Amino acid sequence: MPDESALAITGGTPIRTAPFPGVSDAAGRRLGEEEIRALERVVRSGQLNSTVGGETREFESDFADYYGVEHVVASSSGTSALHLAVAAVDPEPGDEIIATGLSDAGTILPILAQNAVPVFADVDPSTGNLDVASVRARISSRTRAIIAVHLFGQPAPVAELRELADQHGLILIEDCAQAYLTRCAPDGALAGTVGHLGCFSLQQSKHITAGDGGLTITDDHALARRARLFADKAWPRDTDERTHLFLGLNYRMTELQAAVGRAQLPKLAAVVEDRRAAAKPLTALLRDLPGVSPGLDEGAAYWLFPVFVDPDIVRVDAREFARALAAEGIPAVGGYIQRPLYMNPVLSEQRTYGTSGYPLAVPPATEVPRYGPGLCPNTEALIGSRMLVIGWNENYSDDDVHDIVAAVTKVHAAFHGQDVS
Ligand SMILES: Cc1ncc(COP(=O)(O)O)c(C=O)c1O
Repeated sequence: MPDESALAITGGTPIRTAPFPGVSDAAGRRLGEEEIRALERVVRSGQLNSTVGGETREFESDFADYYGVEHVVASSSGTSALHLAVAAVDPEPGDEIIATGLSDAGTILPILAQNAVPVFADVDPSTGNLDVASVRARISSRTRAIIAVHLFGQPAPVAELRELADQHGLILIEDCAQAYLTRCAPDGALAGTVGHLGCFSLQQSKHITAGDGGLTITDDHALARRARLFADKAWPRDTDERTHLFLGLNYRMTELQAAVGRAQLPKLAAVVEDRRAAAKPLTALLRDLPGVSPGLDEGAAYWLFPVFVDPDIVRVDAREFARALAAEGIPAVGGYIQRPLYMNPVLSEQRTYGTSGYPLAVPPATEVPRYGPGLCPNTEALIGSRMLVIGWNENYSDDDVHDIVAAVTKVHAAFHGQDVS
């Protein structure tokens, strides 16, 4: 009799050999006839560019209705949606924008691109989202904005951050790339509508996708106008004048992206609901097992499923736990990203514009920022040893979820030495 408790990583039989539906294949995406018909309609129209065609404007209007906001500006990616937001803030070179080191680089690269300085606040070790006290401690006379990421779709403390921003005259930008339909405390407001600006991504792995694409939302007319101009070479097409009012690039969404995005939007609520429903058995398990806990709760959008691991209790760290899960056939990876954003060469070695180090040099910065180990201890601990992520999907069947639960149970029992079945 084979020992069924033997971990696959040490030569035992894996729980699962068949692939899971994933965001990189048709089985894990809800792309179908609606998107094909929309694309066909746009292709047959002969107009694929949003400055003339109506599809992108319609998509913006659909999204504005969906989110109950005044303005939506479409762009080419989530990174560009954030760049539009930062450009709308219009920082002076060397001004500071506070952000998290635990995110995709798209959160912070636009700060540098607008010649502002990213300042990193630490995260709450129980959520991975910005810690309000740490943000408060990082505010200086040069701070202009805060970017709060709703990591993995878990609501960030944006009500508190908005209060803090208002107290200090700052702009709060919400990065909702992973957080469609995330509901925030205390009143269930949609993530993206609590700050001054919200930014969404339509990249392949997101809840709804057009391959790439971005949406910036706001109720503020002046911010919206600046964002829209920035996405289109600052060309004020509404005044019929061929002039360029300030430095802006071409970040326009194409009509093809908009056609797919528009067809995806009516599917969004079910995508999020199905991800939430699939998460219930794993959430219940993780609440029962010693030394591990689910990283998301009520209101979250379950972009990925983060698991927090206490290595002192489980006896291995999250990276080792993830490797054992992966060997069992589960799409798990330790840490989410390999290093905090501030430990990438673009920041740690100031690889920005030529050899200038601009804008991290003095001037325009007030002091040269130090980006290195120890800057945000909670961020570093989560990435290094205390957090793993499991790929999550709206098309997971009960059997898929069952296999994930079985694998987590098996790996936990093997390391922690306690059979909970
Ligand atoms: C939190 C977050 N912000 C920004 C981005 C950048 O979005 P995009 O890849 O569409 O440029 C991503 C993409 O993964 C993200 O997850």
